[in-house]
Amino acid sequence: MEEKAKLTVGDKTIELPIITGSEEEKGIDISKLRSSSGCITYDPGYGNTGACKSSITFLDGEKGILHYRGYPIEQIAENCNFVETAYLLIYGELPNRDQLENFSNSFTEHATIHEDMKNFFYGYPPYGHPMGILSAMVCSLSAYYPELAKAEPTKEEIDRIAVQLLSKIRTICAFSYKKSIGEPFVYPRPELKYIPNFLNMMFSSPSRAYEIDEDEVNAMRVLFILHADHEQNCSTSTVRIVGSSRANLFASVAAGICALWGPLHGGANQEVIEMLAMIYKDGCNVKKYVDLAKESHGEFRLMGFGHRVYKNFDPRAKIIKQKTDALLRKKGIHDPLLDVAVKLEEVALKDPYFIERKLYPNVDFYSGIIYRAIGIPLNMFPVMFAIGRLPGWIAHWKEMIEDPATKIGRPRQIYTGCTRRDFVPIEKRG
Ligand code: CMC
Repeated sequence: MEEKAKLTVGDKTIELPIITGSEEEKGIDISKLRSSSGCITYDPGYGNTGACKSSITFLDGEKGILHYRGYPIEQIAENCNFVETAYLLIYGELPNRDQLENFSNSFTEHATIHEDMKNFFYGYPPYGHPMGILSAMVCSLSAYYPELAKAEPTKEEIDRIAVQLLSKIRTICAFSYKKSIGEPFVYPRPELKYIPNFLNMMFSSPSRAYEIDEDEVNAMRVLFILHADHEQNCSTSTVRIVGSSRANLFASVAAGICALWGPLHGGANQEVIEMLAMIYKDGCNVKKYVDLAKESHGEFRLMGFGHRVYKNFDPRAKIIKQKTDALLRKKGIHDPLLDVAVKLEEVALKDPYFIERKLYPNVDFYSGIIYRAIGIPLNMFPVMFAIGRLPGWIAHWKEMIEDPATKIGRPRQIYTGCTRRDFVPIEKRG
């Protein structure tokens, strides 16, 4: 028998269907709620609202579980490369050898951007934040591929846009960095794989060739994979809601980049390092900042702590912490900010405020230490998150437009403003 929830509003009781996901999580289907009860739901931040059905990523925040298409994140991070992970997220299955080779080869073919687009970079001041530049550039790709920037692309066209975006994003990010430091652009090299190609475009210069460091490449591979998808997070929901109006994928991803930029989301990795540097400069008085976070009623937050969904631990943070230790040891780097981070984590995790609120280090807490060790500049940290998250955005956009149940995203509201009143001429206003 179909399970139902009962809701009583005034003297009327209505029945609402319960839907069950493949991992047995349950949702009350309220799609007919307004027509049957006259009420809508009120859920700021959508903490209890399922906006879609999705088969891409499963996470259980209480148990600290994260699966991509059913595969535990730990196994994917250990065994896959980033391109393979992108394929898995977008197409639902791990690629076989031929599929992976074709997919990788198409990246090589599409790595360059239109020469005219280089002019855009000259228009930005060197201090412009690379996330703003990235979003504008990704949206601008729609002008160069008008045949792909359409409301309802075919499957083949979606494949082409996905490859264009995944491949070109590296070039755009590296070019914006080169422009900001006044060095000539380094073009993608066809013989290099996804991550070495990106690092080469970032770090090679006329005076110095970048030497591929496998430890750096591996650390970055793991970071990109851990960032690749996280179900209905703020930026992915943005991509979905923008795309639900049938805006093209370039435009939808550009919006997602802007959502990711915020310090409570992907911008947190930059903020974490700024916070750790501040604590370090202030004599490493970790307790002072833990107290500040407790006493400031949300004004000052420990960046890299807390998560809407994870209430036990963030499995990504666990893996990143191990990778951080391993990379720094391998490279013989002693980063004093890592010491501050470890101390901060230790003190916060024992503090009743953080225990009661179930606040743990999240994916952004240690990732910045790795980026620093690789030499990625601070304001590029959120950009690294964006490169990593791109497969997830594409997968969700594709899933959304292929789902016949998709409707334009349009939440309701509870209006709390003035009730009807008559216009007052200016001379009679107080
Ligand atoms: N430091 C201190 N207090 C915190 C923190 C923090 N980092 N995070 C939450 N709290 C407190 C908050 O003040 C509130 O306290 P009270 O109940 O007394 O009002 C309580 O914990 C619940 O917080 P919330 O803001 O209602 O929780 P949320 O689920 O809406 O927010 C969050 C989640 C990630 C935005 C938040 O934890 C936060 O701001 N963290 C710092 C920024 C950060 O690290 N963001 C990266 C998130 S992971 C990467 C990603 O996917 O984006």
